[in-house]
Amino acid sequence: MAEKLNGEVYYPSEEVISYARIKNWDELNNFAKKDLQNFWAKEAEELFWFKKWDKVLDDSNKPFYKWFTGAKTNIVYNCLDAHLKTHRRNKLAFIWEGENGEWKTMSYHALHRETCKFANVLKSMGVQKGDRVTIYMGRIPEIIIAMLASARIGAVHSVVYGGFSVESLAERIEDSQSKVLIVADGAFQRGRIVPLKKIADEALERCGTVEHVLVVKRTGQEINMEYGRDMWYHELMNLPIASNSCALEEMDSEDPLFILYTSGTTGKPKAILHTHGGYMVGIYTSLKYVFDIHEEDRYWCAADPGWITGHSYIVYGPLLNGTTSFIYEGAPNFPYPNRWWQMIEKYGINILYTAPTAIRGLMRFGEAWVKRHNLSSLRLLGSVGEPINPEAWKWYYKVVGNERCPIMDTWWQTETGMFMITPMPSVPLKPGSGTKPFPGIEMDVVDEKGNPVKPNEEGYLIIKTPWPAMIRTVYKDPERYVSQYWSKYPGVYLTGDSARKDEDGYFWIIGRVDDVIKVSGYRLGTAEIESALVSHNAVAEAAAIGLPHEVKGNAIYAYVILRNGIEKSPALIEELRQHVSHEVGPIAKPERIEFVDSLPKTRSGKIMRRVLKAKALGQDPGNISTLEE
Ligand code: WT7
Repeated sequence: MAEKLNGEVYYPSEEVISYARIKNWDELNNFAKKDLQNFWAKEAEELFWFKKWDKVLDDSNKPFYKWFTGAKTNIVYNCLDAHLKTHRRNKLAFIWEGENGEWKTMSYHALHRETCKFANVLKSMGVQKGDRVTIYMGRIPEIIIAMLASARIGAVHSVVYGGFSVESLAERIEDSQSKVLIVADGAFQRGRIVPLKKIADEALERCGTVEHVLVVKRTGQEINMEYGRDMWYHELMNLPIASNSCALEEMDSEDPLFILYTSGTTGKPKAILHTHGGYMVGIYTSLKYVFDIHEEDRYWCAADPGWITGHSYIVYGPLLNGTTSFIYEGAPNFPYPNRWWQMIEKYGINILYTAPTAIRGLMRFGEAWVKRHNLSSLRLLGSVGEPINPEAWKWYYKVVGNERCPIMDTWWQTETGMFMITPMPSVPLKPGSGTKPFPGIEMDVVDEKGNPVKPNEEGYLIIKTPWPAMIRTVYKDPERYVSQYWSKYPGVYLTGDSARKDEDGYFWIIGRVDDVIKVSGYRLGTAEIESALVSHNAVAEAAAIGLPHEVKGNAIYAYVILRNGIEKSPALIEELRQHVSHEVGPIAKPERIEFVDSLPKTRSGKIMRRVLKAKALGQDPGNISTLEE
């Protein structure tokens, strides 16, 4: 390692470098810089296409970029069918452990078979290319089968995280106009059952498009099955229509693969749209280089398939790379705080990819829980979702990784589809920094006018070059796509984050600059929490903000104006917290609710959350010239 970097730096060991696929990051980066299209074309050539592309990048209609235009493929072919012709046919695609200790494994052959069977079931329900299918389940193998089956026949999946609740599910089904909902009866979480089917039943009363509900039996508790609408997955999979082979739909490179809802600055969550071709190339390449997938690896991304991390790096990325993934259903500390470490030892996991909030949570229990286990199989660690504080980074590095395993701190978003700022194993690390943009991606930190700021100064984080896994549009709302991401600075993608870049060109993420709150790495909008509060009949107005929290990163604080004549009481506070949990999901439940008589607003009536935040933190609210008296 030639150059000397500033600050606290962890240089890779000889051992790490000798095993790493990319030993010289600069070389790869220079190659991508010199010829961006050729860089991505070379990666794309490692995958199978029914028909090759005419053009790698079509930027004739910015910001509606297109990748690999003219090509025909299907991401599922590369995830499954392609492997069946190789030694990977009998390799495990995944190993799954339930929270209750049950376990299951599935080879590529078996996953292909189950996917085909379920794809046939979906077809028999009338699902066709382009139709949307909503999936609402916990972390069980069937969620992966459902996603792959829908993609196989060209349908567009919309996975709703199992931690969301009634209103969140209802508005996502409604917006996507799904005719089919695939749901589990329940999910095991920290020894309890989350009643997914019951939540879905309630959601379906609020939206009217769903004709068929396919129910996976996981927990076995009593549920309501509506005659003519609801059917059991296991019964359908035993019918002759669920045959073992199912033709694959040849998709246009730019055909949609999925939509995934995420919170934005204002209003309702928006559906981010990703495609078969470019998305496939982006996540295949980024996972291969960053987590340095080797044939013999056992890889564990501990996220949930219901978020982009799960879509890209539990489902599609690992399967494209033909790797063996581990998937765990439940809570990290159930029944004891050593659950994760026990499973790493038991299954011989080599790569662990998780979130700072999980690390901080497990760190609280002390290192003895970790040290009881032999974690020598670990080779690489990863972090995603929010900035990792240096204390947590060092604990992860020392206690979990035994000072041998580099930490891949990957910055990206639902919209980017793939890692954007990230190290690779041979790159020198600084705790708390994701290092530099992935090869071929140019990013910067700029001021209000769009000019680059000086080293170590804070500014807006932007992306200057298109990339294959990029968001194509906001589903049904192309104007929002343009106004949200491409309007502040022409030709430049606005991330919504603030950041600094140091003198070595390393990026340091500070946090969101919009009305998005990151709670335990989960992305929530103040608008969603506020509208849930206002939907309660005691509430006239509400404002939500995020305040620093030791484990969660941010916790939600809500300020509520009650309707005339409503009595303030601690019981009402609890009722409102439960109400938000019931409508949006437990992750959105406010940490604290305070009753107030007024809220700081601009003259045009916008709530000034910045002022609330400053007040709560005892800070100076800054410029309040727009504040209405
Ligand atoms: C936002 C995107 C895509 C992964 C899951 C989150 C924050 C994400 C990091 C990181 C600092 C991070 C940003 C970003 N974020 N990764 N490594 N360091 N911040 O996806 O739900 O779309 O959220 O998560 O604020 O904008 P998401």
